[in-house]
Amino acid sequence: MKYNFDEVVDRKGTYSCKLDQMPEGAPSDALSVWVADMDFACAEPIIRALHERIDRKIFGYTIYDNEDLKHAVTGWFRRRYGWEVAKEDVFFSPGVVPALAFLLQALTSEGDGIIIQRPVYYPFTNKINGNNRKIFNSSLIYENGDYRMDYEDLEKKFADEAVKGMILCSPHNPVGRVWTVEELGRLVEIAKKYGKWIISDEIHMDLTRKGVVHTPLLKVAPEYADHIVVCTAPSKTFNLAGMQLSNIVIPNKEWQKKWLGVIDDAFSVSMANPFGIAATIAAYNEGEEWLDQLRDYLDENIRFVKEFVKEQLPKASVTAVEGTYLIWLDLNGYESDPKKLEKLMQETARIAFDEGYIFGEEGNGFERINAAMPKRCVEDCMNRIKKALDTLN
Ligand SMILES: Cc1ncc(COP(=O)(O)O)c(C=O)c1O
Repeated sequence: MKYNFDEVVDRKGTYSCKLDQMPEGAPSDALSVWVADMDFACAEPIIRALHERIDRKIFGYTIYDNEDLKHAVTGWFRRRYGWEVAKEDVFFSPGVVPALAFLLQALTSEGDGIIIQRPVYYPFTNKINGNNRKIFNSSLIYENGDYRMDYEDLEKKFADEAVKGMILCSPHNPVGRVWTVEELGRLVEIAKKYGKWIISDEIHMDLTRKGVVHTPLLKVAPEYADHIVVCTAPSKTFNLAGMQLSNIVIPNKEWQKKWLGVIDDAFSVSMANPFGIAATIAAYNEGEEWLDQLRDYLDENIRFVKEFVKEQLPKASVTAVEGTYLIWLDLNGYESDPKKLEKLMQETARIAFDEGYIFGEEGNGFERINAAMPKRCVEDCMNRIKKALDTLN
């Protein structure tokens, strides 16, 4: 089956976070490229499975720990990554961000330190602060137009007694890096030296550019599995964020008990909804063809933006974008004051972005473009940016 990603699907009025709610200051008619979900229709097998589930007419309490779902999830890991995961090690969470909060509750106490690498997905900051833990930021190094980890600084931070572990973003939102096995291995070696854990948020794992390989952290360091948690979900991959189902891989048996202590005993959020389950099973069992075509389409959108920047925005640059559908656009050559840049983009370009500065001050002068939309919308976005920047001259 050939999918049509050029189709513009009307999302207005569906209570869509991306379309029906703008960030503060953005006009209501702005081109919306902020929230990280996609403007593409879901794969046909998912829609069919949901129709079939609706036809069963009753939507009562539903079991996540069922053979069909566990088979679909672990089968996906095996087929796509050659990664063997025991069914008993996969746990439900209504989202990856809630999972980060649950894990902080399960593994740390108030005041404990957690390493993150800014510029990074801002809920990492919010969850650490919101749970009264302490941020230890090890900024990524930005050099020659792309990012790498600062291992020297990481070593200093891991050595700190207050630090219990790290939340890793892999692939990295917003900078688009897909960490290599070597880079991940070096990171694990440092964590290991100090006996600290790593929670690896791999929600963007399936969305790499064709030819770029993502490796799950647990596959990189199986010998350190009792200090690693990998967070995955079908939400980014198959545009199912509203279904609120993610799959958290926790090999450490003690930690499994602690996890259940939080999500079951403390909060009773251990039950998925029937649509999330039906959609996830269909996505992982039958969604591969759609995903392969989607990745081609995203590759082309990203190629277009890179070309546009090179030819028409000589003072701007973008990173390699090895993974995710998010483009990290460096506009410091035009305007480095983040508030002035925001105003220009909101009022002159009439675009609603996730502004670079919300990912940490390392993001000042950057805009994050969500390129998961029909190509003509991506073209519109780039033309608006250019027109707005032209007014600066
Ligand atoms: C790195 C990362 N983690 C987590 C999420 C959101 O996860 P969830 O909706 O499952 O809480 C996002 C969404 O943009 C993300 O980019």
